[in-house]
Amino acid sequence: MIDLSTRLPVKDRFILPKRVIYLDGNSLGPLPRAVPERLNQVVSDEWGQHLIKGWNQDEWMDQPARVGNQVARLIGAPEGSVTMGDTLSIKVFQALSAALEMRPGRKVILSDSGNFPSDLYMAEGLIRHLGKGHELRVVEPDAVSGAITDEIAVVMLTQVGYRTGQMHDMDAITRKTHEAGAVMVWDLAHSAGAVPVDLAGSGCEFAVGCTYKYLNGGPGAPAFIYVRPDIVDSVEPALSGWLGHDAPFAFEPSYRPAASIERMRVGTPPVLQMTALEEALKVWDDVDIGALRAASIALSELFIAEVESRCPGLTLASPRDPAKRGSQVSFAYKNGYAAMRALIERDVIGDYRAPDIMRFGFTPLYLDDGDVRSAVDILQEILERGLWDRPDLKQASRVT
Ligand SMILES: Cc1ncc(COP(=O)(O)O)c(C=O)c1O
Repeated sequence: MIDLSTRLPVKDRFILPKRVIYLDGNSLGPLPRAVPERLNQVVSDEWGQHLIKGWNQDEWMDQPARVGNQVARLIGAPEGSVTMGDTLSIKVFQALSAALEMRPGRKVILSDSGNFPSDLYMAEGLIRHLGKGHELRVVEPDAVSGAITDEIAVVMLTQVGYRTGQMHDMDAITRKTHEAGAVMVWDLAHSAGAVPVDLAGSGCEFAVGCTYKYLNGGPGAPAFIYVRPDIVDSVEPALSGWLGHDAPFAFEPSYRPAASIERMRVGTPPVLQMTALEEALKVWDDVDIGALRAASIALSELFIAEVESRCPGLTLASPRDPAKRGSQVSFAYKNGYAAMRALIERDVIGDYRAPDIMRFGFTPLYLDDGDVRSAVDILQEILERGLWDRPDLKQASRVT
C-alpha cells in the first residue's frame, strides 16, 4: 500500500509554469519564488550602488562559507566543513587529487560504470597529468564492494547513479574502503536534497556535489566540497588559487594554504549565482528531510505502479527496491527519445539519457500524487496513439 499522505506544503515556494508537470528537478531544479526579488536587490542595490565595496559591506567574500553551512545542514556535515565554488567537475578534481596524495604508495582509483562520465574523465585527466602510473579501475555498480582491496588508493563513487537512480550504501562502502586502507570520495550530485545523507556519520574523507538539481540554485549554480575536519589542514590543494591562500590580500609570491575548508576555494566566487542559491536554500529551513524521503518514495512507487499497469512497452531500469533508489525513476524504451520529446511537448517534462533511458525525477517539494497520475495519463496516450512517431521528435537536440 502506497502512503500518499506525506505531502509537503511548500509547492507555492516555487514558480512553475501553469500546466507543467516538472519531473526533471533531478537535472535542473525550478525557480524558488523568492529568488528573483533577492537577485534584483543584490544587482541593483549591492552591485549597482555599492560597487566594489560590496565585497566587505555586503559580505560577498564570506558567501562561500555561509552558503557552505546551509548545504552542510542538508548533508549531515558539521558547520565549517563545506565550501562553495566552481563546477562539480572541478570539485571532483580537487577531492580526487587531494585523496591520491594521501596514499602515495597506491596507484588504483576505483569507480563504477554508473558514475557520471565527467567524474571518470576528470580522473583520467588527473592520472595523465600526474604521470605516475595511476590506473582508473571501473567496475559494475554491484561489484564495487568486492573490488575494494588493499591495492586501492581511492574509491570515488556517485552515491545515486544518474542513469538508473541506483543508490550505493554509503556507510557500508565507506567502512569497507577504510578497512582496506583507502580514501573515500563521494559525489552527492543526486543525493543532496533528495535523500538523507549523514556525511559525518559515514566518516568519508571527501564529498562533492552540485546545487542546480535538488537544491534549486539555478543553471550553473556553484558546486560544494566537504573535507573531513580532522584531515583538512593536511590537504594540499592541487588547484592552489589565491582565494584558498591563507592571506589572499597579502599578495605573497608563494602559495600558503588557508586553514580549514577555506583552502578548497580557488578564485573569485560567482556572487550573483551564489545569491540565487543562498536564497533558494531557504526553502529548506523547515523541511524535514526524512518526511521528504518518505514522500519521494511514495510518489516513485506510485509512478512505477501506474506506468507498469498502463504502459506495457516500458521496462523499469531503476532498482525495484525503493531503499536502493534515489529520487528518480528510469524506464527503458526503445523510442524513448521521441517519446520524451512528445511528453515535453505536452508539458510533462522529464529527460532522456542514451541509449534508451527515460528519466523522471520525483521532488515532493512541488509534486504530488495528482501530478504523477496526470503525467502517466499523458504518457499512456502518447504511447497508445503513437504520438511520438514524428520525424521532428526523433531529431536529437544539443541537450537531451
Ligand atoms: C554525478 C555528477 N557528477 C558530475 C557532474 C558534472 O557537473 P558540472 O557540470 O557541474 O561540472 C554531474 C552533472 O550533472 C553529475 O550529475
